[in-house]
Amino acid sequence: MLISSAAPRLSQRLAMARPSATGAMSEAARRLAAEGSPVISLAEGELDFDTPAHIQRAAIQAMAAGETRYTSVAGTPQLKAAIARKLVRDNALHYDDAEIIAGTGAKQMLFNALLATLDAGDEVIVTAPYWVSYSDMVLIAGGTPVVVTPAPSDEFKLTPATLRAALTPRTRWLVLNSPCNPSGALYSADELRALAEVLRGYPDVLVMSDDIYEEIVFEGEFVSFAQVAAHMRDRTLTINGVSKAYAMTGWRLGYAAGPAWLIKAMALLQSQSTSNPCAISQAGAVAALDGPQAFLDEWRARLRARRDLALSILADAAPVLTMRRPPAAFYLYADCRTAIGMRTPDGTRMETDTDFAMYLLHAANVAVVPGSAFGLAPYVRLAYALSDDRLRTACERIVTACAALERA
Ligand SMILES: Cc1ncc(COP(=O)(O)O)c(C=O)c1O
Repeated sequence: MLISSAAPRLSQRLAMARPSATGAMSEAARRLAAEGSPVISLAEGELDFDTPAHIQRAAIQAMAAGETRYTSVAGTPQLKAAIARKLVRDNALHYDDAEIIAGTGAKQMLFNALLATLDAGDEVIVTAPYWVSYSDMVLIAGGTPVVVTPAPSDEFKLTPATLRAALTPRTRWLVLNSPCNPSGALYSADELRALAEVLRGYPDVLVMSDDIYEEIVFEGEFVSFAQVAAHMRDRTLTINGVSKAYAMTGWRLGYAAGPAWLIKAMALLQSQSTSNPCAISQAGAVAALDGPQAFLDEWRARLRARRDLALSILADAAPVLTMRRPPAAFYLYADCRTAIGMRTPDGTRMETDTDFAMYLLHAANVAVVPGSAFGLAPYVRLAYALSDDRLRTACERIVTACAALERA
């Protein structure tokens, strides 16, 4: 019997994309841990807190009440109403039902918006360091990422001048992510307003405001882009979700608010792919958005203490590792340029931030993500949302590993 198998052939669209580097690092750390190494992962982009009990209870009650069937593609009326209330309460933004959609994570919202609007040659401006998925999503959707790298003195933030220089007649989107993963940069209202002023001259450019880290701000004040620029409201897609704020990453529930034509197109895509987000997660998200918010203050205080703990220990890793005190999100974006060219104790010369991250994984049993994944090297990203004890141990191990490096 002749058995033939199809030669592996992927679409050109997929051939452009790379697997998520953060996922790859977490996977490597999990493998080492399974082999018995005492690995501590600073690679995870999620809180270690449990989803609050009142949210869990709402989901359990929804299941018991039979809310286990398909819902409207863009979300239940209850969830869309809760999202609308949240946007008014926290952001002074008013959206009606046709301007809101819920989906399987903020990630799906970003992806669907890009897929719904990009044609070959369309450009999307992203600021490095950027969240790993933006550029690959743009590529999969057929567009061209245009990466802008702000000067270090601009604290990793886009300025009107750098934005102006990146805009072309092909620009379709500007992606803004404040607070930023991985840099923790937070834009002030004035900074956002200045960017919005530049866009007055580019009426075809849309703005994707990824607000997913809104609740994790330690210094300064979060402001959503559409809030500061009334003239941009109808070409801004505000994206958010419950993953980071309420420790609900596994529930896969995100949402977007923007012009009805775009929301309708995103719903069409969703109707032909994943349909509605999980009905039970939607019930949980209603409880998250409408329920008590006071516990977030305590979470913020704990995260802030962890940030400061990590910074105080890692100060001893200088000059190999140096970093700013980020005002928001739960990451440190550490400059490791001094490590490049140094030798590890076994004599290996490090050429890239990936080499340095691999050295930390194998020599210190600490997983971090190389900055090259975020479009700005040589850096490593350290996520500090883990218990104080494990964080302390991980940082001490990093300091020891840095001290063991030798100048080539
Ligand atoms: C900047 C940014 N946007 C969006 C997401 C996706 O979040 P969700 O879990 O809602 O898909 C993440 C997750 O890491 C993120 O860091």
